Amino acid sequence: MQVIIRPNAAAAADLAAGVIARNLREEPGLVLGLATGRTMEPVYARLVQMHRKEGLDFSNCHTFNLDEYIGLPAQHQNSYRRYMNQHLFEHVNIKLENTHLPNGLADDLETECAAYERLIKKRGGIDLQLLGIGRNGHLGFNEPPSELYSLTRVEALSPVTRQQNESLFESPDQMPQRAITMGLGTILDCRRCILLATGEEKAAVVAETVESPITSMIPATALQLHPECVLILDEAAGGQLKDSGHYRQIFDNEPKWESFRRAWPPVRTNGIEVVRAPDKQ
Ligand code: GLP
Repeated sequence: MQVIIRPNAAAAADLAAGVIARNLREEPGLVLGLATGRTMEPVYARLVQMHRKEGLDFSNCHTFNLDEYIGLPAQHQNSYRRYMNQHLFEHVNIKLENTHLPNGLADDLETECAAYERLIKKRGGIDLQLLGIGRNGHLGFNEPPSELYSLTRVEALSPVTRQQNESLFESPDQMPQRAITMGLGTILDCRRCILLATGEEKAAVVAETVESPITSMIPATALQLHPECVLILDEAAGGQLKDSGHYRQIFDNEPKWESFRRAWPPVRTNGIEVVRAPDKQ
């Protein structure tokens, strides 16, 4: 697991979007795993901007989202289908039929979960998976404890998750109690993944994800098993890591990040690193 710390949330989201764009340019038929949540909104905004200004092409790309609430119709304001349409799909040249989310209204949820797994495999698996993290360490909606080899399935949402997300609903009781989520095994099967976490409220769980032994009680620790996983953090989310000085140097020195360093050269003002979004330089 490689850990990158960027100076602020905007710079972290820009880097995540930059990695996605790079992968898409190199592999136009990319199979992209997508995540929802507040953290991802600036990532999608940046991708939309790159589509408009630089012609970033989504026309051959296929997407699979991590999860969807059970019981919400696609047009419900809190469904993840609606989130994806609003934040990304409606603004880029992706074919809607190439975008996939589990169907939380399926009559037979078990069959739906198995079908989602088959569809991912039929597409050749996920090339690049974007991940956020819940305050309890969930990935998608893999709540603690989650089996490390779990596949797409129905999960009961934990009180921590309900508390984290219910403010997004008109009233707390409107928030579904269950969701369909890719399993940790499904996620670990992807070729490359990026976990993006920003803000102080993620600092404790980020430190556990990187530094705790792997445990089903902190589902994100499963990423320690993945050979191509990058955690992109802002200073606040990286604030409780023991070795943050080392992680800061990775972006500044490692050849893998050189082209990104060129795209976003730091501007130093009185020793404080300020990162400007590329279009504002
Ligand atoms: C939801 C999603 C997760 C997401 C998490 C974090 O529960 N199912 O995939 O990572 O929230 O959301 P936020 O970015 O709003 O903190």
